[in-house]
Amino acid sequence: MQLKIGIIGLGRIGKIHYNNITQQIPEAEVVMVADVCHDALPTHVRHTEADKLIDDPRVDAVVICSPTDTHADYVERCARMGKHVFCEKPLDLSLTRIEQTLTIVKQSRIKLMLGFNRRFDANFMKLRSLVCEGKIGTVHMVKITSRDPAPPSLAYLQSSGGLFMDMAIHDFDMARYITGKEVVQVYAAAATLTGGAVATAGDIDTTVVTLTFEDGSMAVIDNSRQAVYGYDQRLEVFGSEGMALVDNNKPDNHVYYHSGGAQSSLPLHFFMDRYTTSYLTEMQAFIKAVRDDLEIPVRGDDGLKAAMIAVAAQRSFEQNVPIMLSEVAT
Ligand SMILES: NC(=O)c1ccc[n+]([C@@H]2O[C@H](COP(=O)([O-])OP(=O)(O)OC[C@H]3O[C@@H](n4cnc5c(N)ncnc54)[C@H](O)[C@@H]3O)[C@@H](O)[C@H]2O)c1
Repeated sequence: MQLKIGIIGLGRIGKIHYNNITQQIPEAEVVMVADVCHDALPTHVRHTEADKLIDDPRVDAVVICSPTDTHADYVERCARMGKHVFCEKPLDLSLTRIEQTLTIVKQSRIKLMLGFNRRFDANFMKLRSLVCEGKIGTVHMVKITSRDPAPPSLAYLQSSGGLFMDMAIHDFDMARYITGKEVVQVYAAAATLTGGAVATAGDIDTTVVTLTFEDGSMAVIDNSRQAVYGYDQRLEVFGSEGMALVDNNKPDNHVYYHSGGAQSSLPLHFFMDRYTTSYLTEMQAFIKAVRDDLEIPVRGDDGLKAAMIAVAAQRSFEQNVPIMLSEVAT
């Protein structure tokens, strides 16, 4: 039987999940959608309010893609109604609230999956399996470059929780995923260099974060909200037996050499282009886990740990000192 899904929030990411489920996942059906902006909604599916969607007995599972500050309320309501949840990152901006939500989820026994889609990217999965097979040896260092082509809108920035919680949180999760290790210390430097909406929102746009893992190994993550050449997504893992890296995906791999130099294509422009397949694969994994009663591949705890690193990074930047993760425990 098809899993009956309701989607809350049909903006940039909600539309991706809607299209993937309706067009590519025959095991599920979108039976209802909710968005405070009715212009955003597709015409050939039932519309309702978010709370009514969650309460509706025709809905088995809810995909939450509304702004970050709505996630915890909706997840908790889903838990109380016994509805499984796929929730976009982050779960909330407050660690205390995330813990409260996870407690309610645990008591309800629903399945909750967090939208760390990069774990489902074929390139990063390959690096992870090289690490697991021991091909890299003991991992000593991870380097992640993660730069957006342009900042989001002012309205988005104002409810996003800032660069660390909104954007770098994917990289914090990736560092944990690739190494399989837990972070103990965070040191962050940051600046606002692009002006525009980021400056108006009082946010930062350029950061370097150093994570130290439990065994002394490290990850270095650099982020920018504005890379003029497109979406820059690179990762390197270095260890006692070797090194593996993932470069940017491009629309094609040609290089044109001529008397003035050489030219090739720019990286795929943004997340909807670069991570297209990962969004489909993560949703397939969620739907399979719910239908077959399997363990969820990205748990609520993963969301909490990445959010803790984001809080530590913000505090480190503000105080200009390294922060132990134990200091930001809820
Ligand atoms: N995993 C990823 O790669 C990824 C990418 C982008 C965004 N996100 C996350 O997804 C969430 C949404 O981001 P977006 O870029 O799609 O934002 P968006 O602004 O494009 O879309 C949000 C949608 O939610 C609707 N909405 C607003 N308040 C609502 C409410 N109370 N109830 C129901 N709907 C409401 C808006 O009308 C809008 O259509 C954010 O939490 C963001 O962090 C994740």
